[in-house]
Amino acid sequence: MIRTLKNILSLFIGKPRVAAKQRSQETMNLILNRRSCRSFTDEEIDKDDFLAILEAGRFAPSTVNLQTWSFITFTRAQWREVFDRPIPFNGMQAIVICADMFRLKNNFPDLKDTPYVNISFALFNAGLAAMNMTIAAEALGLKSIMLSETGKTGLLDFAYLKEKLRLPDKVIPMTTLVVGKAKGEKAGIPPRQPWKANVMEKVYNADNCEMLEDWQQQMFIGFKLTHPLSNFQKQLEMYKKKMVEAEEEIKKQYRV
Ligand SMILES: Cc1cc2nc3c(=O)[nH]c(=O)nc-3n(C[C@H](O)[C@H](O)[C@H](O)COP(=O)(O)O)c2cc1C
Repeated sequence: MIRTLKNILSLFIGKPRVAAKQRSQETMNLILNRRSCRSFTDEEIDKDDFLAILEAGRFAPSTVNLQTWSFITFTRAQWREVFDRPIPFNGMQAIVICADMFRLKNNFPDLKDTPYVNISFALFNAGLAAMNMTIAAEALGLKSIMLSETGKTGLLDFAYLKEKLRLPDKVIPMTTLVVGKAKGEKAGIPPRQPWKANVMEKVYNADNCEMLEDWQQQMFIGFKLTHPLSNFQKQLEMYKKKMVEAEEEIKKQYRV
């Protein structure tokens, strides 16, 4: 009981633990205070801000500088044209971030023999670009959220997005970055796992799985608080079904 109360409390008062000097550093502060935003206003985004966000993505580091990503951009009107509904959470603009091994097919034909490594590189690099864009948005006073499920926006709706966006084979729609001005502030920070569960010295600590009990309970409680009418287990089942479908799509394209 006391443990459960502690876990509930941690959802409201949990914060990144960083020394004051480091916390006062502007970029550090920005990274630590970034939160996924799930409610946006109708205020337009400055055109140059949006271009700067994309350029931040293009300038992310990548394996052998292969830049295995592509970004498909949308205004509200364009999103509606393609998907026949609004951008999730009333976002102002959206960027579908794809891991892209299609574009390089003529430049590096030899890469075709290493599909697992190709996918790993491509996904990792696209993730770096996505994060660069997220941080750029924060720096410009905007908010964002990466989506891979809500509103059929990413990997879990691979086949659907492939058709809607006319993606060629070997382009994986990883996530949609929704951007805009935040409507209100949300209290609380989604719980992080204990430090020792994922930061290790010298060698891997395989006991880390046992450290996740509190975190898991915090996740359940957090879900109940933010989605009082939804059922976590049902949500999980739906995720699992979509994961199997996305898996099939990847296998089809990469023949792994
Ligand atoms: C690739 C990716 C996909 C995500 N997909 C969704 C989504 O479909 N719906 C959603 O509400 N949040 C989504 N999120 C946001 C996560 O839930 C969020 O990052 C996590 O709970 C941590 O919260 P924070 O971003 O505020 O720190 C996604 C995040 C990432 C990185």
